[in-house]
Amino acid sequence: MMSRMRLGINIDHIATVRNARGGTHPDPVRAALMAQEAGADGITAHLREDRRHIRDDDMHRLKESLHIPLNFEMAATEEMQHMALFLRPHAVCLVPERREEITTEGGLDVVRHQASLRDFIAPLRDAGIRVSCFIEADTRQIDASQKVGAHCIELHTGAYAHALGAPRLTLCEQIAKAAHYADALGLEVHAGHGLDYDNTPAIAAIAIIKELNIGHFLMGEAMFHGLAHVVKQMKAVIAQTRSTQSSSQGHE
Ligand code: PXP
Repeated sequence: MMSRMRLGINIDHIATVRNARGGTHPDPVRAALMAQEAGADGITAHLREDRRHIRDDDMHRLKESLHIPLNFEMAATEEMQHMALFLRPHAVCLVPERREEITTEGGLDVVRHQASLRDFIAPLRDAGIRVSCFIEADTRQIDASQKVGAHCIELHTGAYAHALGAPRLTLCEQIAKAAHYADALGLEVHAGHGLDYDNTPAIAAIAIIKELNIGHFLMGEAMFHGLAHVVKQMKAVIAQTRSTQSSSQGHE
């Protein structure tokens, strides 16, 4: 049987809408609880340096109210490390962050920051937090992620999601190869960015990948169909792919 794939729901966009009017509605914690109720396996929230969507108080409320794992997405800064050590989320996902970017535009350069990341990750590991590095499907970045002490990697699927035709297939193959390479090094493999109903099945078919983190598409669709519906729908897309794969390829 192919292992189950977890679906993490990123609720940052609910906070973006809330902040557009500066009040308390819509509440990202309410969205997280609704996603949990609908079958989400985890909630992801990115506390950015500029607090453009999720705020400190949201992170505290998420930690207090969820009973599924909280994945705290953050830049590798001292401020965020303090926050993580205080909050003790289930997991931390380290991402690059530039103030002027619209979203997380590329993977973390773990190779370049190897020495500082090792020191940064050690106290998080000691605190029992699972640490993931959000990286491109590149063996050098995977090697470096293992060396700095990450438990997991999250492969950036943005380029794959935006490509069409043959380049998309090539990028998907690169992701699959990277996933197997990382798994052989003992890293748990996640993936995310730009995933929707159409491009998720090819990624969900990679048995080594254990978790997907999805935000933008599902939040947009939720405006038309409701949050609970879209979470259930994406879970069904993933489950359908995993079961088709296990019956056609034997087990993994
Ligand atoms: N994973 C990581 C590390 C991210 O930074 C993001 C975007 O916040 C996602 C997953 C989700 O990407 P999207 O919003 O495009 O589904």
